[in-house]
Amino acid sequence: MSDRIPAAVLGATGMVGQYFVSLLANHPWFSLDAVVASDRSAGKRYADACRWLLSADMPEQARNLEVSPLRAELSARVVFSALPSDVAGAVEVDYAKRGHMVFSNASSHRMDPLVPLLVPEVNHAHAAVLHEQRRQKGWSGFIVTNPNCSSAVLVSALHPLQQAFGLERVMVTTLQAVSGAGYPGLSSLDILDNAVPYIGGEEAKMESEPLKMLGSFSDGALHPANFKVSAHCNRVATRDGHLECVSVTLGADASLDDVAQAFRAYTSLPQELNLPTAPPRPVILRTEPDRPQTRLDRDAGNGMATSVGRLRECSLLGIKFVALGSNTMRGAAGGSVLNAELLKVQGLLD
Ligand SMILES: NC(=O)c1ccc[n+]([C@@H]2O[C@H](COP(=O)([O-])OP(=O)(O)OC[C@H]3O[C@@H](n4cnc5c(N)ncnc54)[C@H](OP(=O)(O)O)[C@@H]3O)[C@@H](O)[C@H]2O)c1
Repeated sequence: MSDRIPAAVLGATGMVGQYFVSLLANHPWFSLDAVVASDRSAGKRYADACRWLLSADMPEQARNLEVSPLRAELSARVVFSALPSDVAGAVEVDYAKRGHMVFSNASSHRMDPLVPLLVPEVNHAHAAVLHEQRRQKGWSGFIVTNPNCSSAVLVSALHPLQQAFGLERVMVTTLQAVSGAGYPGLSSLDILDNAVPYIGGEEAKMESEPLKMLGSFSDGALHPANFKVSAHCNRVATRDGHLECVSVTLGADASLDDVAQAFRAYTSLPQELNLPTAPPRPVILRTEPDRPQTRLDRDAGNGMATSVGRLRECSLLGIKFVALGSNTMRGAAGGSVLNAELLKVQGLLD
């Protein structure tokens, strides 16, 4: 246990922060070393500061940790950030300047051309931009981001298709869970018996982040992909799991069987490396007429797999299907921990 790499969690008392705490408490390579939150929580025991929301109990080793204030000195070099974006921007830069290796869930730095927006199955090669990041920004640490939760699901489903056929156009309509808004999130009176056709900033993220992730890395720079994404984002009264209805124009002719085979055959570097948080199958094709379903499939692959199904022809764009993934695991804490595992194996945490 003692040779595990210590890690701190910023925003540790929030929805995503609790998933980090839970993952790190049981991780073979990283250990939970420090928890950081707002002035409301600083100075308290984690168990007293945090309204624990996960069904598994709060890990014993977290209970007695004293919550540190933002910008506190941290002995852990690895820092996972689950801060709100308006706070994360400057704080994450501050920690990167101080030599910390920051893995952020916030949107603040995602579209910075020197910051990798990583989903290890999709664009593990983009981690190489960190050398340029450090050189150009002069930081001894670095910042790595993971995508917005709905972009994470979409890009995981699109990557097998991009590899096999290329992509020309993507249209996506989401049904996003309430936990995506953090805790306490929306008031129950706003969301019970309701669907809200607006999530601030979400459509712009879904239309830009996949292009960065599905782009290339060459000559020390990231180059976005050049297809178009159009997104409708809706909040619905589910607790966890973002369901997405996707229509796609592929870059080459392909039958539905070809597309199904591309989903089935899909695997990537995290699976080859057997990274601890990587699901055995990153994309799971369901063939039942009514799957994937939010409640039944959101925890597939321990919340790290993307389930796809209802694959059929689209009379407008070519093919269409439904994709589903966990916003809190693949779309947040699990994705970020997987990024850190990838960078450890690549020698970037030394
Ligand atoms: N929820 C998701 O599914 C999801 C998915 C992907 C990405 N994200 C992103 O992850 C981040 C965290 O989201 P969340 O859903 O976990 O939010 P949340 O439940 O509202 O938690 C926010 C956390 O940040 C802390 N915090 C708030 N204001 C602070 C301040 N001024 N200084 C220091 N700490 C502060 C809170 O501490 P206190 O308890 O002390 O207030 C809490 O620990 C956001 O950037 C979000 O966009 C969320």
